Amino acid sequence: MINRITSLPEYLEKYQESITNPEDFWADIAKENFWRKKWDKILEWRFDGPDAPQVKWFEGGKLNITENIFERNMFQRKNQVAIIWEPNDPKEKEVRLTYGELFDKVKQFANSLKKLGIEKGDRVAIYLPMIPELAIAMLACARIGAVHSIVFAGFSAIALADRINDSSCKIVITSDGAYRGTKSIPLKAIVDESLENCPSVKNAIVFKRTGEDISFIEGRDIWWHDLIEGVSSFNDAEVMDSEDTLFILYTSGSTGKPKGVLHTTAGYMIFSEYTFKNVFQYNNGDIYWCTADIGWVTGHSYIVYGPLLTGATSIMFEGVPTWPDAGRFWEIVDKYKVNQFYTAPTAIRALIAQGNEWVTKHNLSSLTVLGTVGEPINEEAWTWYHDIVGGGRCPIVDTWWQTETSGIMISPLAGITPTKPSFATLPLPGIQPILVSPEGEELKGNGVEGILCIKYPWPGMLRTTYGDHKRCFETYFSAFKGLYLTGDGAKRDEDGYYRIIGRIDDVINVSGHRIGTAEVEDAINQHPKVNESAVVAYPHEIKGSGIYAYVICDKLSESETESIEDEIRSTVVKHIGSIAKPDQIQVVPGLPKTRSGKIMRRILRKIGEGDATNLGDTSTLLDPGVVEEIIAGAKVDVKR
Ligand code: WT7
Repeated sequence: MINRITSLPEYLEKYQESITNPEDFWADIAKENFWRKKWDKILEWRFDGPDAPQVKWFEGGKLNITENIFERNMFQRKNQVAIIWEPNDPKEKEVRLTYGELFDKVKQFANSLKKLGIEKGDRVAIYLPMIPELAIAMLACARIGAVHSIVFAGFSAIALADRINDSSCKIVITSDGAYRGTKSIPLKAIVDESLENCPSVKNAIVFKRTGEDISFIEGRDIWWHDLIEGVSSFNDAEVMDSEDTLFILYTSGSTGKPKGVLHTTAGYMIFSEYTFKNVFQYNNGDIYWCTADIGWVTGHSYIVYGPLLTGATSIMFEGVPTWPDAGRFWEIVDKYKVNQFYTAPTAIRALIAQGNEWVTKHNLSSLTVLGTVGEPINEEAWTWYHDIVGGGRCPIVDTWWQTETSGIMISPLAGITPTKPSFATLPLPGIQPILVSPEGEELKGNGVEGILCIKYPWPGMLRTTYGDHKRCFETYFSAFKGLYLTGDGAKRDEDGYYRIIGRIDDVINVSGHRIGTAEVEDAINQHPKVNESAVVAYPHEIKGSGIYAYVICDKLSESETESIEDEIRSTVVKHIGSIAKPDQIQVVPGLPKTRSGKIMRRILRKIGEGDATNLGDTSTLLDPGVVEEIIAGAKVDVKR
């Protein structure tokens, strides 16, 4: 397979080449793609200065990413399966779409979007469950040059409206409802609620999935099936510039509302394809399955774009790992003879707890590669995954990356890079990580631990945060001059292998989902009885990190005291969604604040970890007594 590394010496050589001459390295990969017009300049970049980042890859090039998925390969792959869709209910029949069939559906839906007046550059919000139409909708946007902004269908009406409004989306694509295990979620009703506050939205396209009753607003709402009726599937792709926006994806940070991370066409295309085929060592004909939701970046890059650009068969799963039983993942692996399987540590830990027989009763001999993503994987989970799921036979690729990087940055290449439990190992070719001290000094050599930054651009990196370039600079490029700040701490061991330790900022990684503490606090503070709150991460056996909220309330009656925790949880669900629901809520008399009014989160984190033996210097606290009271009422056992 073209551009795929096949041995360790080749990796080492390619890596060296990519560092010595990054431009030629990437150009050599890009030349295999289908360009309407070749680029004029490979790379222009600057990571410092207040208008940073300024990054352009393949400037002057003209292309369309869907032409690289479809037209480029149509003679070869027309009848090959592109997407296998496995429904929530195993009794419902799966759907297989060949490249030819998917292509026709994408073109037809692209024409349908045009019919509604959607043009190049318009933003389109997509709020859909894991059904093939989600992939069709995003590819149709890419086909006509519209910018997709996919919102995970677990976010609340308020969270959806915030995202729609931030980028003034013209339309929303949704479904009547969504199935998840035994539950049915009324997506259209949620969209209706959002749209009361979204003036930019002209239409909602509704796919019929559950058949439940929904309300329809004449003139605004249109059924998917009515819209595409009689629409031609002849469509010539919009010709895009390399640096034209492909999509926006919102993600949480330390402060404020989620940011719209913006990715552009050519760089994203090259990076997602290259990283996919190399990390997973995909071979023609393999069946690949990533269990993520397309609402997150993992699904964008490693269910849709990366695999389809490579010509892979990619499985899309609508359901959950534990329904109808805890063997569902392995039943699906067996059913389709999956070769590469990619999931999150949180799912692995949840399944370990269910017992090995759910795994061992299925035939998993087709598996060749196992991947993980989203959070650090602990050694116990790594070993179980390796031995029980992989039968000791399959290399594990622990892939470190972020929404902002758009693709895998540090990871073994399956079967090529020797692995070590809980290490993401080595950077991919073209990626130049660097560890720095809090003062910004480079930590050279091996056996060091520091803040993980990247010192050189890669094609898939974010270009800006939508509508607010200054925020992009401040968040990622202002901490250390000339470096991209990842927000993670990492260790480089004696072998030069990277181990990701976790976030060093106020971002919590709950079950591999990124949640900003400030966002959760803002949501909690919406409760009329809450005066102030402070949210921190605490160790959680399954989720990796759980959410621990300390809240100061107005005086509560007895019945209010009883219901306050539930009410706060509902408030968070209403403002963000279930994923941000605090696991622990402790009503406290006060928060540990310095004389200048800053909350000392360090102390709250320590208490959440159950360890008050070493709280550090508390002498700057306004009221040191409050710490004792918090410990006394803590929701976890605290060692003193
Ligand atoms: C954050 C990014 C990457 C797609 C899914 C999450 C954490 C990601 C790993 C890993 C340890 C990891 C980091 C990162 N993370 N992969 N293999 N080992 N931590 O994307 O929502 O943008 O979150 O997830 O903390 O910064 P995201």
